[in-house]
Amino acid sequence: MSFMKVRSFAKINWMLRVLGERGDGYHGLETIFQSISLHDDLLIEKSDALTLSCDDRSIPLDDRNLAVRAAQVMIDEFKVNPVSIRLIKRIPVGGGLGGGSSNAATVLMAMNRLFELDISARRLRAIALSLGSDVPFFLEGGTAHATGRGEVLTALPFVGTIPLLMVIPDEPVSTPAAFARLDLLRKTSPASDWEEERGHWYWLPFLEKLPSVHDYLNNDLEETAFTLIPRLRELLARLEKEGPGWCHMTGSGSTLVAAFGTIEARDLARGSFSDMRTAVSETISRDEALKDLA
Ligand code: C5P
Repeated sequence: MSFMKVRSFAKINWMLRVLGERGDGYHGLETIFQSISLHDDLLIEKSDALTLSCDDRSIPLDDRNLAVRAAQVMIDEFKVNPVSIRLIKRIPVGGGLGGGSSNAATVLMAMNRLFELDISARRLRAIALSLGSDVPFFLEGGTAHATGRGEVLTALPFVGTIPLLMVIPDEPVSTPAAFARLDLLRKTSPASDWEEERGHWYWLPFLEKLPSVHDYLNNDLEETAFTLIPRLRELLARLEKEGPGWCHMTGSGSTLVAAFGTIEARDLARGSFSDMRTAVSETISRDEALKDLA
């Protein structure tokens, strides 16, 4: 085998609770990740030099790109030959949909296969975490509860195929900026209950009723994002009026996601957002997310 063509799926967060700053530059968090069908395509081929090409000219092709960094780590750690990577980009950048992290995890898994490295799951997880807090999730996919920086993962049962509408504002949010702003906001407000983790057991009963549990499943970074992009609040209110079962910003934003009971209801809601960039997608299982790498 000299090349692999693999899909690299996006994620949403059903909920995201940010705990205190840990003293190492990261915040403890509790989240539920969900793989969705929206994906980039990666063509990874054995080559003489490490190169990345992309159909989207706004994407950096050097080591600012997590896919390049992932390939470089594999080359350095396992002394394998370089690869050329072709990336067809569909996941919006800076949208909280995990595109860069997903690409990185996909490169790790694809190179593991391509060079028949048989890397242990533990080692692969450690390499993934060295690339970014969200990267380990993409080695697992599906629905997963996470604590720590986002790397202590517990697989959850598949929630079924839920139709999703994504509203994608032009203004991206940088993840470090979102966390920094949250710290600032919390310094000026009294300490609340965000100091402690609740434990994954807390959410398990609610997941069975998705997507009708939107009161429990929310995102601590949403208010933060509203202060960075004021019109996001109105956009979310507008999306809520479409009657989704659940509707929140994903990750550190700025993409808003709404879950609907039927494809028809979802598509009808999309029609009301013809003035915005939107995308439709649905939740996918772990098996689906990892199919190309099985
Ligand atoms: O791990 P990643 O590179 O995605 O993190 C980017 C930035 O987001 C970190 O440098 C940190 O500022 C913030 N972050 C955080 N706590 C986390 C994850 C990310 O404070 N659990």
